[in-house]
Amino acid sequence: MVGLYRSRVAGVGSYLPEKILSNKDLEQMVDTNDQWIVERTGIERRHIAAPDQATSDLCLLASQKALEDAKLTPSDIDLIIVGTVSGDRQMPSTACYLQHKLGCSNIMAFDLNAACSGFIYSISIADQFIRTGVYKNILVVGAEVLHRYINYKDRETCILFGDGAGAWVVSRAESTDKNVIASSHMHADGGLSELLTLQGNGSLLSTSETPDENKNFVQMKGREIFKNAVRTMAACCKEAMEHNQVNPDQIDWVVPHQANKRIIEAVADQFKFPMDRMVVYLNETGNTSAATIPIAFDWAVKNGKIQRGQQILLTAFGAGLTSGSVLLRY
Ligand code: UT7
Repeated sequence: MVGLYRSRVAGVGSYLPEKILSNKDLEQMVDTNDQWIVERTGIERRHIAAPDQATSDLCLLASQKALEDAKLTPSDIDLIIVGTVSGDRQMPSTACYLQHKLGCSNIMAFDLNAACSGFIYSISIADQFIRTGVYKNILVVGAEVLHRYINYKDRETCILFGDGAGAWVVSRAESTDKNVIASSHMHADGGLSELLTLQGNGSLLSTSETPDENKNFVQMKGREIFKNAVRTMAACCKEAMEHNQVNPDQIDWVVPHQANKRIIEAVADQFKFPMDRMVVYLNETGNTSAATIPIAFDWAVKNGKIQRGQQILLTAFGAGLTSGSVLLRY
């Protein structure tokens, strides 16, 4: 991955909606209980967007914090990428709504659908635009209002997902800067696409046509997804470490996709990464799909865990099945 320039993480921010849906709340809605959810997933609560909050509203609040952290204004931004599968509308893109809300004029803005890998896919694209010298400052957001696509009668899915947004400003680094994005490796295995779907409102099936309400909700083969999540994230970690010739001891923090604590433990176990160097914040958020990594990263920064100069490995997997890794010095 050569290029004229390298990129750095100039600023980070996140936003979680105020309303909380706890495991106790879910006990009143489906046949489940707090103990099962905590033991099997690690999740204690998730945040739910207000009825009048769109995905772009969550993006805006996270983006404003990331811009402030980067000491930049919207007019400095050259490109906006939003990783999401639950945008404001099917068309136009949430990135265009965000561009308008931020007041950035006339810059390229688009959404990227890689499900839970959406944020790191978007980072890899931002990194390419910086490396080639096309752009200097790129706003990358992962955001979801997933609760609108969850069947609160399906105990396998409704306990998992939540809403939220996280944003990074990725900027051109100085040639002497050591804190840069070292690599990104992205993958997809479309042969496993039916394991995790949201079928309604697509060209194959319009919402109004389907008598099966489940087709309008996230549907998942949980155990299969679990196994593939461990397999692909472990493979992605290995690929990043081999490519950069680093070993687990040289990585300060791993920020994995936050889907299930047992998945994170299984990945950590394969590389003997101690769990206290795996960033885990899903107890508070549940699975916010494309938003989990920037939300967990921001939380770890604000809580004094991740610090400037440290080497960080991001890894994600999601519907597609997509997966990938980003290795960077923060
Ligand atoms: O970003 C990607 C999104 N998806 C994921 O990452 C999901 C990956 N998968 C998972 O996290 C897990 O597979 C689940 C949390 C979804 C399920 O956990 P599991 O340990 O794989 O449970 P299981 O499906 O093997 O079910 C074990 C038992 C079953 O009962 P029986 O058949 O043993 O009597 C289920 O019916 O647990 C039951 N069960 C529940 N019980 C209480 C399933 N869901 C629940 C629930 N509350 N919410």
